[in-house]
Order: sequence, then C-alpha cells, then structure tokens
Amino acid sequence: MKNSIVINADIEKGKINKNIYGHFAEHLGRCIYEGIWVGEDSEIPNTNGIRNDVLEALKNIQIPVLRWPGGCFADEYHWKDGVGPRENRKRMVNTHWGGVVENNHFGTHEFMMLCELLGTEPYICGNVGSGTVQEMSEWVEYMTFEGESPMANWRRENGRDEPWKLKYFGVGNENWGCGGNMRPEYYADLYRRYQTYVRNYGDNKVYKIAGGANVDDYNWTEVLMKNAHWLMDGLSLHYYTIPGDFWLGKGSALDFEEDEWFITMKKSLHMEELIKKHGTIMDKYDPEKRIGMIIDEWGTWFDVEPGTNPGFLYQQNSIRDALVAGLHFNIFHKHSDRVQMTNIAQTVNVLQAMILTEGEKMILTPTYHVFEMFKVHQDAKLLAVDSLVNEYEYKDEKLPQVSVSASKNDEGKVHISLCNIDHKNEAQLELDVRGLGVTAANVSGRILTAGSMNAHNTFEEPENVKPVAFEQVSVNENKLSITLPPMSVVVLAIE
Ligand code: AHR
Repeated sequence: MKNSIVINADIEKGKINKNIYGHFAEHLGRCIYEGIWVGEDSEIPNTNGIRNDVLEALKNIQIPVLRWPGGCFADEYHWKDGVGPRENRKRMVNTHWGGVVENNHFGTHEFMMLCELLGTEPYICGNVGSGTVQEMSEWVEYMTFEGESPMANWRRENGRDEPWKLKYFGVGNENWGCGGNMRPEYYADLYRRYQTYVRNYGDNKVYKIAGGANVDDYNWTEVLMKNAHWLMDGLSLHYYTIPGDFWLGKGSALDFEEDEWFITMKKSLHMEELIKKHGTIMDKYDPEKRIGMIIDEWGTWFDVEPGTNPGFLYQQNSIRDALVAGLHFNIFHKHSDRVQMTNIAQTVNVLQAMILTEGEKMILTPTYHVFEMFKVHQDAKLLAVDSLVNEYEYKDEKLPQVSVSASKNDEGKVHISLCNIDHKNEAQLELDVRGLGVTAANVSGRILTAGSMNAHNTFEEPENVKPVAFEQVSVNENKLSITLPPMSVVVLAIE
C-alpha cells in the first residue's frame, strides 16, 4: 500500500520559528579551539582568528542563533577571565572536558564577533553553579550598557565602543547535574534571584531562559513553572539520542548493525512524546504559550572515535545522523507553537556536528546537508498535513516509515520535507497537494541518501554523502507520486 499524504497549502498553522535551526558551540574538545578559533597568527586562512572555511560553511546554513559558552562549561566559566589583551588572559583547567588548559583566547569579544560575521543572534549561558549574582549581572552590563558605568567603560577600554545587542540569555545550564546538582525547588529560587539582576539596558530586552529538565524529569518542569513562570521567557529541555546506555556504552557512530539503526530512529521519535508531556505541564501555567520551550541541546551521542580523547566527544556522522536530524526538524515544526528555539549539540567536531576538521582540512557531514536542505523552512508558515503512513517493521517492533512536514514561505513557495527511516525498503508515496496548482514544471527537489547505513564523509572522500537532484517524482492532477529510497531525506519545492 502506498503511503498517503495530504498537504493543505491553504491552511496555515503558525510560523516555524527560524530559531529551531539554532546551534550550540561549547568550549569542549575541538569545537571552539581548532574548529572555529585558530587565532590571527594561524596558517589556516582566518578572519580575525576565526577560520574562513568554517565561517563560509556556517554562513551557508544561515544559523539563526548560537548558544555559547556551554553546556557544563558555562557553570564553571568566569567571563572576566576572557576579556582584555589575550596574552594576559588567565589560563584555567577545563575540568569537565578532558582536563585541558583553557587559555581564554576565545571570550566575549571573539564570540560576539563570530555572531556578527555569521549574522546570527548570540545566546549566552550564564554561570549559576559556581558564579555569583554580581558576576552574571556585570556580564550583561558589560555587553549591553551604553552609558557610563564601570563595566561599559571596561568594554570600551577593551576595544568595543558600542554595546552589543543581546537577546537570549540562559540562567545556568543543567542545574540538576553538572550545573550544581540542585533540587528543582532550590534552582527555582536561585533562578528567581539571579534573573532579577539580568537587566534590560536602553532598548536591549533580554529573553530570559530558565534551565530546564533532563529528558523526562517532568517534576522539574512542574516545579519551575509553578514557582517562576512569570519571570521567564523560555524554559529549556535537553534530550540526546543515544542508541545504547549513557554509562555502559552509547554505541559506535559508524560500527553498528540493523538493531542500532532501528533503536536510533525509535529514540529520535521519542522527542515528540517529551515535547507533548513537558508542553502539557507548561500549558497549565501558560495556556497562551508565551513561554518558549527551548530545546537547547539535542542530537546523537555516540562513543568517541577510537583513539580520540574521551573528554572531547568527537564522533563521526553518517546517513543515520541525517535521518535523526530530519526527524527532529519535522517534529519541531509540528510543535512550533511551543518550541521557539532548538540548538543542536554541537556545531564543529563535537557530538552531532555539522563540520569536522583536521588541521587545515574541513568536511561537511550528512547532518550539515540536512540543515542546508531544510533552511527553507526557517520562518515559513507551517502547513496542515494529514498522513496515513505505512509501518516500518523490525523484529517485533513498528515505527511510522515516513515523516513529513510542509511550509509556505513569504513568496508563496511550498516546501515539503520527507524522511524514509526504513533501512531496507523504499517508500511509495502519494502526495495530494490541495490549494495550490501543481504541475511537473513547478516541482523540484533534492535528496540525501546512501547505500549503506553508516555511509559518511571522510577527509579522503568528502563528498560520499551529499544532496543531489531528486528525480523520482511524477505529477498527475495535483497528486505527486514519489518513491523514497531506504534511508533518505528529501526536500521538495513547489513554486
Ligand atoms: O553537549 C555536551 C554536554 O551535554 C553539555 O556540556 C551538557 O550540558 C550536556 O550534558
């Protein structure tokens, strides 16, 4: 039986916030250092210390928002160590991530410059776990105060006259764990206190994000919402797709079998249940959905590549990761009335990265290509979709074989993203597009697929997995007949 999908091009269901395509870059392993920052004296071509190849690749996926400096690192980061002349900056130990020396060469000025070069909104995560209220308050003053003040004057001395615009600010990270091992009641009180001193200077209005739950800790969401909902603009949620067990062995990024493919898809789809359940709790206190669910860490987490530093979280990235990304985006779109931002972990060389680097070499991962193909959905109107899809059966379990989402942009162009998660079988689809004249001439598409479950790009073969034109579509009276190969991500455009 064919999978049957109806796209209602004339029923708009709200906007897909472009921030759903956000990123996260932490001082972890080779993400910031080597991956983004090489310093002005590097032989790797750079702009004021930021490597040009990475910059250009990231510009191409139109990153709307970038979260920094952590992660767990954020609750040990003292921002004053990272401003002023670089040669004088304090060297510290990055205790969370590999125990390596952090020379603080990439600090507030460098991060803000990166955001300006990328045309992206900064999202800064402050330190609650080991920092003071004064320190957090002064950071915001340093960055955003225009007039005469100790912090604004110091910023000027350090070379930046105008204040920056800073919208997104997180008050701590994973405060149930690496951010202080707190109980939700205690963190809720601290959140209330710390956020009081995160001031709005001039016309800079800060969107305050409270540290949210780990996976299915619904009590955390309940306590935070009950005790502080009127003081927050966003509440975060972290969920990683881990095929194995976090402590006993997460599974390999490349060396895996069918079982692990299936479980990875199943665990990715779990994101929807989490959004619904945390969302229901948020609805109780915020029925208007003013507060954004900010999923500021998501993505695959596998064992590190053999022979690499266990604290650096460096993993390869295959067509399986591409399917994980596509599934997540289709879920996030569907819940974009509540999900206002998400940030994949992480941008370069760490976890489900877009980009991998080795010295002066750089490759784009299959996940990068999904971000590039899906960018057409950013800030577009979500369209109503009805679908009756077949089951992807594996042993005695079943998942929906196909995932779909559709949007219309300001020019009236419709984009449809489709994922066939089945590792063996193609998916036949009949797609009925209502409210729009569809002819063979106005449909085009691209596909990302591969012949093996672990197909990936390497420094020797950087274009093993990349999008190509999609031809397996025919049009008959507004109905599209499509064949999706196994393990494929497709984005169609209808002019
Ligand atoms: O992304 C890696 C780590 O995962 C982050 O530092 C932390 O917030 C989470 O546990």
